[in-house]
Amino acid sequence: MKFTTYMEERRDLFNSRLTALVNGLKSPEQLKSSIVYSIEAGGKRFRPILMMAAFETFHHELDKVFVPAASLEMIHTYSLIHDDLPAMDDDDYRRGKPTNHKQYDEATAILAGDGLLTEAFHLIAATPLLKAEEKVFVMKELAKAAGPEGMVAGQMLDLDGEHKSLTIEEMNHIHLLKTGQLIRFAVRVGAYLGGATPPQIEALDDYATSLGLIFQIQDDILDVVGNQDTLGKPIGSDELADKSTYPKILGLDGAIRHKLEVMEKAKEALRQANINNGILFEIIDYLGNRDH
Ligand code: IPE
Ligand code: IPE
Ligand code: MG
Ligand code: MG
Ligand code: MG
Repeated sequence: MKFTTYMEERRDLFNSRLTALVNGLKSPEQLKSSIVYSIEAGGKRFRPILMMAAFETFHHELDKVFVPAASLEMIHTYSLIHDDLPAMDDDDYRRGKPTNHKQYDEATAILAGDGLLTEAFHLIAATPLLKAEEKVFVMKELAKAAGPEGMVAGQMLDLDGEHKSLTIEEMNHIHLLKTGQLIRFAVRVGAYLGGATPPQIEALDDYATSLGLIFQIQDDILDVVGNQDTLGKPIGSDELADKSTYPKILGLDGAIRHKLEVMEKAKEALRQANINNGILFEIIDYLGNRDH
């Protein structure tokens, strides 16, 4: 199957489940409305689709993977709501719409993020589709990837890096945390739930790590050369905040060259792991060339 078709089909399957989950929340009206607003604003759903692709490398019935994928997208969406707040990146536009705090207010946006983060763990704990040991694995990996040694750490270092000129190693470190950890989680948990053996899960780790870097390098490049309407968020936001980004440190051409190198590395990692799922290969090119 072509990757674009695969992506559209999986996105539709996933969206109907995710939408039902957030619409079923019994929260105060304003809180629920703001949660539903950010979830239904869209987004590529790249992380859940990646989790499904890793899962389908080993197993075919997708049922088991929807709840962890929904938890991941909830945490990702919370991270974006908070990332856009005035205290952080102070952005007004996200997924083609006003950011959560612009549409509602800052307090509501903070609480919508808190709610999504917490509900992500509740969903995993409560699902009848996972065995107890699977729940523990998924929750442990998710907490590690999203928490103070993972994405949240990356967000802190990203803010610390404003108005500084970082080395490429320091940049990689930040990006592997702020973006890379959730992407790595998608691959690990997809493979694990699909029945991959521990060596197979480990073998996919280099691939997942490279994907995270490719994702964020392209995000930084699009902040310079992207189109706001296609992207659904403002461009030039990094320069305005004087962020350390790949184009800033390496120049635009250097950032593109670096991205191509990491794309090659990701392909080599898949070959080394002896993985023949063509979709996982196509994801590399999709990420490196995406325009939104
Ligand atoms: C944006 O993530 C934030 C980064 C980690 C760079 P996405 O580009 O996946 O955003 P959505 O989910 O499609 O809106
Ligand atoms: C945000 O990175 C990553 C997380 C929210 C964890 P960015 O700040 O670069 O994301 P965008 O460009 O606002 O989507
Ligand atoms: Mg940010
Ligand atoms: Mg941002
Ligand atoms: Mg960005």
